Amino acid sequence: MPTFTINGKEVKTEAGKTILQAAVANGVRIPHFCYHPHLSIDGCCRMCLVEVEKIPKLTIACNTPVTEGMVVRTNTEKVLKARKGVMEFQLINHPLDCPICDQAGECKLQQYTFEHGITHSRFREEKRPGRKRFKIGPRVVFDEERCILCRRCVRFCREVSKTGELAVFSRGDKSIINTYPGISLDNKYSLNTVDICPVGALTNADFRFQVRVWFLEETKAVCPGCSNNCSIRICHRRGKVYRLLPRKNMDVNKVWMCDNGRITHKQIETSNRLTVPLVKKGNKLEEVSWNEAFDTIAKGIQKIKNNEIGAIGSPHATNEECYLFNKLIKNVFNIKNDIECIVPSWEADDLLIKKEKAANPQGAREFGVKTNDTSSVKKIIKGNLKALYIIGNDIIDNSNTKQDVLQTLSKLDFLVVQDTHNSDLSSIANVVLPSATFAEKEGTFTNINGFVQKTNRAVPCPAKAKPDLEILSGVAKAMGRPFETIEPDKVMDEISKNVKSFKNICYEKLGETGIKINN
Ligand code: SF4
Ligand code: SF4
Ligand code: FES
Repeated sequence: MPTFTINGKEVKTEAGKTILQAAVANGVRIPHFCYHPHLSIDGCCRMCLVEVEKIPKLTIACNTPVTEGMVVRTNTEKVLKARKGVMEFQLINHPLDCPICDQAGECKLQQYTFEHGITHSRFREEKRPGRKRFKIGPRVVFDEERCILCRRCVRFCREVSKTGELAVFSRGDKSIINTYPGISLDNKYSLNTVDICPVGALTNADFRFQVRVWFLEETKAVCPGCSNNCSIRICHRRGKVYRLLPRKNMDVNKVWMCDNGRITHKQIETSNRLTVPLVKKGNKLEEVSWNEAFDTIAKGIQKIKNNEIGAIGSPHATNEECYLFNKLIKNVFNIKNDIECIVPSWEADDLLIKKEKAANPQGAREFGVKTNDTSSVKKIIKGNLKALYIIGNDIIDNSNTKQDVLQTLSKLDFLVVQDTHNSDLSSIANVVLPSATFAEKEGTFTNINGFVQKTNRAVPCPAKAKPDLEILSGVAKAMGRPFETIEPDKVMDEISKNVKSFKNICYEKLGETGIKINN
């Protein structure tokens, strides 16, 4: 562990670290454009120049390893003058269009110009023209004039997504970033290039110009898109979610997320959201109060023998919801039948995307839920099941079997569907309970590798929809067996007492990035 001096302070750093990495670890800021902690070092922007004793010229901090006894200065007159010079070069061709640029507020060039730039331009020649606002990929818009050629996007596509669509073409002042001929920037992780582009050259086609970033609030959450459970930030304003961004979690997603995960918030505001409780009267589903919906369930369930009632849970439910659904079915309804759930799937890859396309199938399994089991449907066909309580609509996810399943379920005497969206399933239910999406509730998810993370509520539920914990509690109460608690942290305390694999889990210990269950 070499000891070195930075700005007069003696500090230790891990062997092999560069000056920039050691500075960051010791709370010293060195401005930089091309360096990114999760990409290879390029050393092309020269913004990170520092003074090192016994080295005659300024040196780049991002590519100079710390050695024992090294003396580094990051804020001398010589360094500050060099930074001003680098900024002047950066701004020669960069258009001064911050007021109409969607990166404003989170642009390194804007920030460093404010901190280190000069207040006037000595450049009197024409700026280099470039292509404006063209789609370099289906989800990414490129503004060539704003590019500072830091090559972060190129390295991301070569080293992380390993798709290699981007390169620097031409030489010298003609250099431009582009895709190879006939190719577009279209990989499953393309929007990470937008996150790491330090300027407004690459922007998200879906998010750009929706809202100024300084108006957004951020809530720490977990992506519901697949069982990797990438850590995310939900960016929202006045009850509307505008974008999802990755949050650093070295055990789960490092600093990346996939493009599909980023659009999971689109489900929140679709026109087919269920917003009020419904009960079938005659042949029609009619809006009722929550109490009437709960009472209808209690009466409907009490009429049917315990062994003729089935339950299908949701792989999208939080750990706390899985646990309370189990408690409702086993302890309140007194049902011996196993709880099942169907997990949608898609193609996995080696980076983040996992096969199970739901946030919590692993958590469900920890609570004894049988994943991808359709015994209930078989029992209905045999006439052994008369009532079913279903959370979600994954049972009709498979288009090949959908119509047969719907036909079978329509034979039930009593069907309860608790879901976020209207579907062919909710339309055949006797009672429909409108529930919360991932952004409207608090709880924990367990990822495929056993990491339990906290997800937080960013926006309220629409109209009369409720978080699932409140709904399950309402049903239990109507059945005369109310739960002791539905506060997510208290439910987790109960889980850790009763479910062996969760015995080390409590909200205080989870922190921002979660911990692993014992199994
Ligand atoms: S597009 Fe952005 S990330 Fe790519 S080289 Fe230009 S400035 Fe850097
Ligand atoms: S890999 Fe899975 S969890 Fe991660 S962002 Fe994509 S869909 Fe979400
Ligand atoms: S950050 Fe060091 S040269 Fe770009």
